[in-house]
Amino acid sequence: MQMYSRRRFLGAIGRPAVAVAAMAILNPETMKAALSTVAQRKGKPEDIAADESFWYPIQQAYTVDRSLVNLNNGGVSPSPAVVQDAMKRHLDYSHTAPVYTMWRILEPQREGVRKRLARAFGCHPEEVALTRNASEGLEICQLGFDLKAGDEILTTNQDYPRMITTFQQRERREGVILKQFSIPVPAEKPQEIVDLFEQHITARTKVILMCHMINLTGQILPVKEVVAMARRRGIPVIVDGAHALAHFDFSLQDLDCDYYATSLHKWLCAPHGTGLLYVRRDKIAALWPMMAAPDTMDDDIRKYEEIGTHPAANYLAVADALTFHQGIGAANKEARMRYLRDRWARRLIEHDRVTLHTSLKPPFACGLATVQIEGIDPEALADYLWQKHRIIVTPIKHPEFEGIRVTPNVYTTLEEIDRFTDQMEMIIKKGLPS
Ligand SMILES: Cc1ncc(COP(=O)(O)O)c(C=O)c1O
Repeated sequence: MQMYSRRRFLGAIGRPAVAVAAMAILNPETMKAALSTVAQRKGKPEDIAADESFWYPIQQAYTVDRSLVNLNNGGVSPSPAVVQDAMKRHLDYSHTAPVYTMWRILEPQREGVRKRLARAFGCHPEEVALTRNASEGLEICQLGFDLKAGDEILTTNQDYPRMITTFQQRERREGVILKQFSIPVPAEKPQEIVDLFEQHITARTKVILMCHMINLTGQILPVKEVVAMARRRGIPVIVDGAHALAHFDFSLQDLDCDYYATSLHKWLCAPHGTGLLYVRRDKIAALWPMMAAPDTMDDDIRKYEEIGTHPAANYLAVADALTFHQGIGAANKEARMRYLRDRWARRLIEHDRVTLHTSLKPPFACGLATVQIEGIDPEALADYLWQKHRIIVTPIKHPEFEGIRVTPNVYTTLEEIDRFTDQMEMIIKKGLPS
């Protein structure tokens, strides 16, 4: 393999024709070589987070539109070119004779992806189902418990709207009762969160739903502690990890939970329409699949994948996203996400009219953060940033707080972060033009 030396690499970006250098780097072979040097880089994640020569080839591995600044990677992320290529390759091959190539050759390779995900995120392959997104994995859990009228389900008032809708449909259909409670913003006392869950449990509470990371503010919740408390009371906890997996570094084993669902098209940058559901082995038999499976599959995690005809390409290219992620290193990515967030957030909180609804202390948040400028409507602000400056952010409006959510990703450059921050400072000083 052709090695892409640091000197050659820096030489390339030092030339005036940066665009030409970037195109040369996008060549798949040079890109692979550049990424392999990144993968071998040793050092403290905090130092790597601030080393632009480490992040440059990663930024160039994406095919994103650089005429705009996309700070909504929390919604859905682009995949690096290697992932797009893998997916296209598998798709092209699928179409040569799908009943043979897709079903008989490619589909069995899904088992390799299952094994790799299990190894990377700390569980057994027989506990990993590949789903189409986080919603599918979560709804399998939310609809998969037998409940009767009067049974209670407990969650916060910051859980994801679709997951709330799912339980509200069960309320209308079966007479179960959904109870939601408020949590502090930001929440820097894990025991307070555990206590809040515990205080809202009644004799009729049968299921708990909680986020690992809340999409509205980036708040990381104490999953392990809540699960341990609920387990003592015999109550299952469904964990919504849509924003957590491959965003910050943790293993499912360490969380010690029983039900965990996530998207893979957010922070892992896997193909759109991919997710992962983890169900602890001894819990599989009792949790119904959302689409029916035969009783011979009762104990088999694959019962959650009995969805009829589906593409193989998306799922197989998850492996390439995982390789890309491992090349960066989970701890390096986590540190970079905090570095990017701090770069804009620490500048903005210097201003009196600014409130950050996200903790800057490491255990409580990572790359996703929400900021409010007093007196400025978040929708108007997001609209202005897009219309006038081609900067994408997400307006957040919750009855208890509001602001704009900012989510960079590994491909985001410091210049993009600064362009956003400069505009925000201008707005803080001068307001939105009428
Ligand atoms: C907290 C949370 N849960 C679930 C979802 C649903 O994820 P997906 O669109 O992958 O189904 C999202 C999506 O943004 C989310 O933020």
